[in-house]
Amino acid sequence: MQLLITNIKQLLQVREPNVNKVSGKEMADLPLLNNAWLMAEHGIIKDFGTMDTCPNLPDAQIIDATGKTVLPSWCDSHTHIVYAGNRVQEFVDRINGLSYEEIANRGGGILNSAARLNETSEDEIYLQSAQRLEEVMQQGTGAVEIKSGYGLTVEGELKMLRVIRRLRENYPIAIKATFLGAHAFPKEYKENHSGYIDLIINEMLPAIASEGLADYIDAFLETGYFSVEETERIMEAGKRYRLSAKIHVNQFTAIDGIAACVCHNALSVDHLEIVTDGDIEALRGSETMPVALPTCSFFLSIPYTPARKMIEAGLPLALATDFNPGTTPSGNMNLVVATACIKMKMTPEEAINAATINGAYAMGISETHGSITRGKAANFIITKPLTSYYQLPYAFGSNLIDTVIVNGKPI
Ligand code: NIG
Ligand code: FE
Repeated sequence: MQLLITNIKQLLQVREPNVNKVSGKEMADLPLLNNAWLMAEHGIIKDFGTMDTCPNLPDAQIIDATGKTVLPSWCDSHTHIVYAGNRVQEFVDRINGLSYEEIANRGGGILNSAARLNETSEDEIYLQSAQRLEEVMQQGTGAVEIKSGYGLTVEGELKMLRVIRRLRENYPIAIKATFLGAHAFPKEYKENHSGYIDLIINEMLPAIASEGLADYIDAFLETGYFSVEETERIMEAGKRYRLSAKIHVNQFTAIDGIAACVCHNALSVDHLEIVTDGDIEALRGSETMPVALPTCSFFLSIPYTPARKMIEAGLPLALATDFNPGTTPSGNMNLVVATACIKMKMTPEEAINAATINGAYAMGISETHGSITRGKAANFIITKPLTSYYQLPYAFGSNLIDTVIVNGKPI
């Protein structure tokens, strides 16, 4: 029941309970204890301190972390872990010169994954998705948001959300579910956008709400996908079911979508590869968390979110994987943190804040996750021996994780 970690070289992200996110200059500060201990009981962080105050707990399970670093588990606030099959052929098509847009225009992309999803049984989708979830847990993810959006039919969307519910029932990490019926227009609605949005609002949403299957609502606000006005209809409908919005926006083009999301009190706006001064102004002083997905930029060879400009403007920033079959077939938050440092010039402190406390905020769980705080879930990563935590992004291809603890138990 009790777990005591001793001789921790560096205990990172130690915070008081009142911090739910960090913004601007605050992001440069990663509070830590050197030569520390940490105690968990009943799955909750009970206490911590420096080794001169280490308690003697004869009944506790003890882990000696000499030379090792302990940090809160990653909070991955944006994924599409539930899908069927993969899109390796499109990957090779892109290597051979086709763009993501060209592939989508000939019926590939999201519609390709939707066809696969709808022809695959719920049990089979569960098995494929559980395997991915287990992989990211081993990579240190201790909380994850998962979206629907490859059904695009009432049955398909419900199937995806039921798989997410089953994952939540069977795995110990925190899982939040987001309804993304507005991911793309199915072929039969290509010329009838309002018909598909009516289907989302009048059929999908009530069915999802009656089973309590979603925590959040999402839409792909982008040129060629959902317009600002169409996304506003979706956000308003979500509000009627108490679903806050987390919106895909500014991935390829900036069309004033961010301001609309802020007006609708979106919890997060995600992607942001293209960001204008007006977008930054819209976010300033709001409660909406901007979320960058650097391994998506890496995989598609598109611009990276301008993190420096946003942080220097005083904004917070979160980092997530976007794990999905088309634009980011990887759920590795360690790689996300490293890529943010290497390509977006975030400091290690900023990147770790963005992947823990700010990630927790972007999925509505910063009261219970995202920092080493008394009373929060005992979800943390014990690294291999490190010279300092700078090694985490520096040695970007190495697995530096020794042990992952979820709810006070090694997994
Ligand atoms: O977040 N941009 C929209 N949706 C996903 C990718 C969808 C896909 O290609 O399957 C994303 O990148
Ligand atoms: Fe996404």
